[in-house]
Amino acid sequence: MKILALIGSPRKGSNTDILVDEILKGSKKVGHTSEKLYLYDYKIFPCIDCRACKKGKFVCPIKDGMKQIYPKMDDADLIIFGTPNYFYGPTGKMKLLIDRMRPFVANGKLKGKRWVLVTPAAEGPRVCRPLIQMLRLSFDYLGMKFIGKILVKAYEKGEIKENRRELDRAYKLGASF
Ligand SMILES: Cc1cc2nc3c(=O)[nH]c(=O)nc-3n(C[C@H](O)[C@H](O)[C@H](O)COP(=O)(O)O)c2cc1C
Repeated sequence: MKILALIGSPRKGSNTDILVDEILKGSKKVGHTSEKLYLYDYKIFPCIDCRACKKGKFVCPIKDGMKQIYPKMDDADLIIFGTPNYFYGPTGKMKLLIDRMRPFVANGKLKGKRWVLVTPAAEGPRVCRPLIQMLRLSFDYLGMKFIGKILVKAYEKGEIKENRRELDRAYKLGASF
């Protein structure tokens, strides 16, 4: 199985990044391959509701980093969405990507793919409900299947490295794919 991990934290070596790496380690152990992308390395313009993706070949006409990301999403069997909680939602960069997932409404290419959420929050998992609901409604609409989440309490960059319990949980989630 091919896994695509999308990192929506602006910090490399972030809590999101570390947890996603643990998931990928677990998944590698059971034979899956993966690719990880840092969304902040890509230019992603906002969706402008031009509706071009609803016609013809169902593709987005905007020329930016999404041209590289779309085919990777098409190819993946499972997508990990890693985003810290920023004011009870995803980071701005992750939201830009989500809005640009609109071509998948018409082309149906994400149907049946599985997805996982990874979210650190300074206040902990209890404040992640609006974020989970937003992503679940959005990805259900695209026909994707939610298969798991890692929500943790963390604030400082990389502090999750000290939390063996959460790292184990992440590893086991990956090994369960
Ligand atoms: C702009 C901004 C908004 C944030 N909003 C929240 C919030 O509403 N609730 C919360 O629990 N943590 C909030 N945080 C803290 C981050 O979720 C937390 O530091 C997290 O561990 C960062 O993940 P990262 O290490 O993967 O970048 C916010 C951080 C930033 C920079």
